Amino acid sequence: MDLHGVFVENAYRGTKYVDEVESYGEDLAKEIFECGFSSLKPLSGHVSSMLMLLSCCRKGETILTVSPEDGGYDGYASENVPQMLDMKCEYLPFDGAAANIDYGMAADKIRDVSPSIVVVGTSFLLFPYDLRRLRDACSDVGASLGYDASHVLGLIAGGEFQSPFEDGVDVVIGSTHKSFFGPQGGIFLTNDEGIFEEAKKNITWRVLDNAHWNRIAALALALEEMKKFGKEYAQKCVRNASVLAKQLHEHGVPVRYESEGFTRSSQVLLDSSRIEEELGTRINDLAIRLEESNIIIDAVGRMGVNEITRLGADEAHVADLASLISRCISGENVLAEAKKLREGLSIQYCF
Ligand SMILES: Cc1ncc(COP(=O)(O)O)c(C=O)c1O
Repeated sequence: MDLHGVFVENAYRGTKYVDEVESYGEDLAKEIFECGFSSLKPLSGHVSSMLMLLSCCRKGETILTVSPEDGGYDGYASENVPQMLDMKCEYLPFDGAAANIDYGMAADKIRDVSPSIVVVGTSFLLFPYDLRRLRDACSDVGASLGYDASHVLGLIAGGEFQSPFEDGVDVVIGSTHKSFFGPQGGIFLTNDEGIFEEAKKNITWRVLDNAHWNRIAALALALEEMKKFGKEYAQKCVRNASVLAKQLHEHGVPVRYESEGFTRSSQVLLDSSRIEEELGTRINDLAIRLEESNIIIDAVGRMGVNEITRLGADEAHVADLASLISRCISGENVLAEAKKLREGLSIQYCF
């Protein structure tokens, strides 16, 4: 950072030990995600997304990403971060039935629009991407390929879902508190030294000032836990989500993407239109009813199994949960049984 004309890496003294913790965590992140450069400084997934855009795209240039209508993150919607940073935003063609990018049309659009960065990774992320097909088109026009792994960071860390860097992604960013079981915060990872240098310039005084050392220390510890237990945890997450989706389906609860096998991540998505048609209930009302029985889903029917998986839930627990959800949807209050199920679980995959 430049302090009144004097460049120093760190403006403060007395940070020797926290610096060591930070470097230790950064090295762990590089090892776990198999990349050359990492920063644990971003204060949240959203902040890390701003850092990625600032480091790969200039004012007036274009980002190409997944539309919020197709499950994309609202932060990338043209009226939000792109407008704030004076960037143009266009959306990738999407195959709604497969809940994935339409790769043929997307490659054409990338070559047509020539964006500075293509960003994949959404808030509803059920199936992996064919990143190689996007990589080729990005390389043709000199675009960076960014992956917002907020929802699947813990799965990627554990070797599940997909390996973005192996498939040619330039930058991975994300929240560290969703499927990655760390403190609330963000992470920035890249293999590209040029992008990392840009990111370093964009961190201090642009997306944040002082680092939050308590969070960085907690993240370093979560990275250690991920290194030791991540593989087993991530496999269990994916398995539990699959079991939850199938069991709900068998109980007659409408779940989206049956033809694709429902899910390959830790998320399961209820079919809100079918629920409204077949059960005459709006999904948000259902979410409120489930909450009264201590079962938490979101207002659009998105469920995540990462939390119960961290609490040690296995397939039998998840099957019990599916049955409770189905009974609750049918009008029963299952609070006592949900509490009993929860009491049988305790935190796992930690030191
Ligand atoms: C894909 C995606 N990226 C970024 C964010 C923002 O994350 P955070 O809440 O950590 O700022 C979200 C929020 O859920 C998200 O879904």
